[in-house]
Amino acid sequence: MRILTIVGARPNFVKVAPLMEELGHHSDIETVLVHTGQHYDYEMSRAFFEDLEIPEPHVNLEVGSGTAVTQTAEIMLRLQRVMEETQPDVVVVVGDVNSTLSAALTAVKMGRPIAHVEAGLRSFDRAMPEEVNRVLTDAISDFLFVTEPSAVDNLLREGRPKERIFLVGNVMIDALRRFLPHAKRRAVPPELCARSKHNGGLAGSYGLVTLHRPSAVDNLGTLRAIWEALEEIAKEVPLIFPLHPRTQNRMKEGGLCGSWQDASNGVCLVPPMSYLQFLKLQSEAALVITDSGGVQEETTALGVPCLTVRENTERPITISEGTNLLVGLNAGRLVQEARKILRGEGKKGQVPTLWDGHASARIVRTLVDQVGIDHLSATGRYALPSRDWRAT
Ligand code: UD1
Repeated sequence: MRILTIVGARPNFVKVAPLMEELGHHSDIETVLVHTGQHYDYEMSRAFFEDLEIPEPHVNLEVGSGTAVTQTAEIMLRLQRVMEETQPDVVVVVGDVNSTLSAALTAVKMGRPIAHVEAGLRSFDRAMPEEVNRVLTDAISDFLFVTEPSAVDNLLREGRPKERIFLVGNVMIDALRRFLPHAKRRAVPPELCARSKHNGGLAGSYGLVTLHRPSAVDNLGTLRAIWEALEEIAKEVPLIFPLHPRTQNRMKEGGLCGSWQDASNGVCLVPPMSYLQFLKLQSEAALVITDSGGVQEETTALGVPCLTVRENTERPITISEGTNLLVGLNAGRLVQEARKILRGEGKKGQVPTLWDGHASARIVRTLVDQVGIDHLSATGRYALPSRDWRAT
């Protein structure tokens, strides 16, 4: 069996690492890894391949920056040639970024079966580019691998057949479990400690911040209000804020960057961090403030309190079971909830079932079974069984 796997942006790399490792255990599977080049800075791409021990991609499409339309179209054009040459039996796409949708569209147009890892998540907010990517990718995927029960319900509601939906757990948490011991051995960079003006540097508690979504950073008024809230929180605890290029660009455009750089207000701005460095800081943080999907899940797995600066989440299990709390784009609420956490009144939470580090193994086993079964059912000799891993 030949599997073509596509990655393009930072969160994809984390999801594909455990899958590539698992696929490597199957000598009867040939894997072709394609990087679209959507993320291309060292910190946003290469550093993740190194930390997560992902094999060198066979092909890099080098699409780089552009509008969503240009990115999508360029990936499709360049990927078509790769699929013509490699003739994969299955195309595996992960997550919800522009590269995910582009690859799925190319595969369906070329008659190739698609497996979507992290299917079914819905924020029900079509203003988010990722939501459009999710809905469209799921509509054309043949194998839908999901992380939480709400995603099964969403897919069934959208008419996807039950026997194509597999509740397997969370590959991002596979990566976390595999690499947490490595991350723990990392030191906090001395530069970070030196720049933190709080007594004891970062030796005591600290908070970690990530923000990059258009809803939080594209409107200067919203960005300014969030920034002021962070300054308020930083009076009580130092904050480390690794900047996504999009956020950095918005800050420059808004004339905010200059005054943000000295950390004298307790907020330490740093370049994007490698996976292991970020995981180390995340695992020991007193609180995390984010608008990222993956970070909501990682904090739940780590038991670290998380405040999500968004009006909705496509990952409701992080709220119903985990440590996550939605504060909206409400700066006052952000400060209030952060203070509660710092007083020890944060949510405790529990780790969802099947977030146990074995999702990749379940996915690969299912693919091996199902692709064979599909072949047989095409000849009318086999009916597709459904599988619920909770029962096994
Ligand atoms: C993308 C994903 C988002 C994910 C995020 C994680 C989509 C629609 N969004 O958002 O779901 O949470 O990645 O990082 O796919 N840039 C650089 N260097 C890079 C990469 C990007 O400077 O290595 C710049 C781009 O030129 C662009 C901006 O950052 O100006 C945004 O990049 P883009 O790929 O459009 O999406 P992200 O905001 O990173």
